[in-house]
Formats: sequence, C-alpha cells, structure tokens
Amino acid sequence: MLGPSADVAVHSGKVYTTEQVVVTQPVAGSFKAFTSICTHKQCQVGSVENDQIICPCHGSRYSAVDGSVLKGPATLPLAPKTITVAAGKITLD
Ligand code: FES
Repeated sequence: MLGPSADVAVHSGKVYTTEQVVVTQPVAGSFKAFTSICTHKQCQVGSVENDQIICPCHGSRYSAVDGSVLKGPATLPLAPKTITVAAGKITLD
C-alpha cells in the first residue's frame, strides 16, 4: 500500500519516494499515478502544485493529468503507473 488517499489533495499530489511513484488528484475522486523519476536527468520529482508535477533539479513541469511535459528541459512524458484506490487506501498494482 502506498498510503491513505486522504494524503493526496485535489489539484495536488504526493511523491512516494521509496516506491518511485507520484500520485495526483486533478479532479475530485479521480487519482492518477506516474513514475516519479524525471525524464531529464533522472532526479525524483519533488512536489505537485496546481495540477503540475515539478522537478526540483532543473525546473521541468509535467501535467498531473497525463504526465505530459508542460515545461522543459525534459522532453519526454512521465510514464503512467497503475494504482487502485479503494476503502480510502492507495495501492500500486
Ligand atoms: S532532472 Fe528533472 S528537470 Fe532535470
């Protein structure tokens, strides 16, 4: 289990560093998950603000909706991961 879904706020997200996954909630009740490893130089992304996943190393930003690049230097999207949210808990499939 990654953790309680209550840890992932709407329009925000949470990075699970050990599991290397970032979970977002761009729409209330709809959770998304992506690898947390930046496609630029493989730093781990640091935070999610206003539906943007932000890498602290060089400032790349990715969409919290689909993982696409919103701002470089990264050029490749974050790959999606599959999660299950049930009974208030998030599990990586
Ligand atoms: S490693 Fe993420 S922006 Fe460079």
